Amino acid sequence: MVQASGMDTAAAIPSSEPTGDLYTQLGQRLGEDNLERRLRAQQELEAHMAIQGRGIFRLEKYIRMENLLTVLFKSTGLYGRGYRNFLDVRLIHNRVILPSLPEAFEGYRILQIADLHTDLDPALPDKVVAALEGIEYDLCVNTGDFRNRTRDCHRTSMRQTALIYRHVHGLMLGVLGNHDFIEKVPDLEAMGIRVLLNEATPIERDGQVLWFAGVDDAYYYQTHDLARPWQGIPSGACTVLLSHSPQTYLEAEALGADFMLSGHTHGGQLCLPGGRPLITHCPVPRSFCSGPWRHGKLQGYTSRGTGAGCVPLRFNCPAELTVHTLTRGITR
Ligand SMILES: [Fe+2]
Repeated sequence: MVQASGMDTAAAIPSSEPTGDLYTQLGQRLGEDNLERRLRAQQELEAHMAIQGRGIFRLEKYIRMENLLTVLFKSTGLYGRGYRNFLDVRLIHNRVILPSLPEAFEGYRILQIADLHTDLDPALPDKVVAALEGIEYDLCVNTGDFRNRTRDCHRTSMRQTALIYRHVHGLMLGVLGNHDFIEKVPDLEAMGIRVLLNEATPIERDGQVLWFAGVDDAYYYQTHDLARPWQGIPSGACTVLLSHSPQTYLEAEALGADFMLSGHTHGGQLCLPGGRPLITHCPVPRSFCSGPWRHGKLQGYTSRGTGAGCVPLRFNCPAELTVHTLTRGITR
């Protein structure tokens, strides 16, 4: 059981390459079938055989989308404004009423970092560190996509991530996104981030327990298995689920999750005035793509992301760090 107290936040990155032992351990944590599926899909990406996403016609098979968007926004004179928006990370507060919250966790604060895509632009870590200054929280979660590239080496993104996590304190949990290869788990855990690979962990405070479950990516790798962490969660226990994509909300509600934290959509990132997204890359209703939402007894929140994907630009969709404050009471 994890005690709700400090944890070493050392930012060192291990130099060892993945070994057979590592894959044995990852298979035991993620599930052997899921690990096989993930490694196969990762190999396809490494071989440039696959393009992430859904749909019959994928323009990026022929033209690099980031090049197309860069030319488009530079030619229209909007690039500079979009880049300034990208680096303007805002702090958002979200209050969540959870009737089953243990009394000891009244006022518990969860800092959510999402979709850092740290290798997209070297200026981002300093901006995130500045935005983190002075924020008070009890636990930090990361809902995935530490990296922007979907293939090749992840060392750059891990170095950039470490720059940020030197300034994060206390307990840290995370899940992988569709841009993350599973081999980075040891690097993240060396930074003090406990990665939940279809796993659950209890957080103890004054003899009471709040459970956190985390599942692997449901969007591209489809290696999420919600039933697996729930095997160890006592019936009726208050549980927070970390799931990179919000598309697992139906299963989460059926299993009895109380609160679900996601990212992945970037809130649309390049939105029309009023915040209406053009693309979300997520098979959920638009109301699940940004901010707080509810499905039955399940409450959730989808971050617009702390970083951005594909291009370092944002329009009508601010980047965010989010502090969720949990409280007991009757939901209206
Ligand atoms: Fe992302």
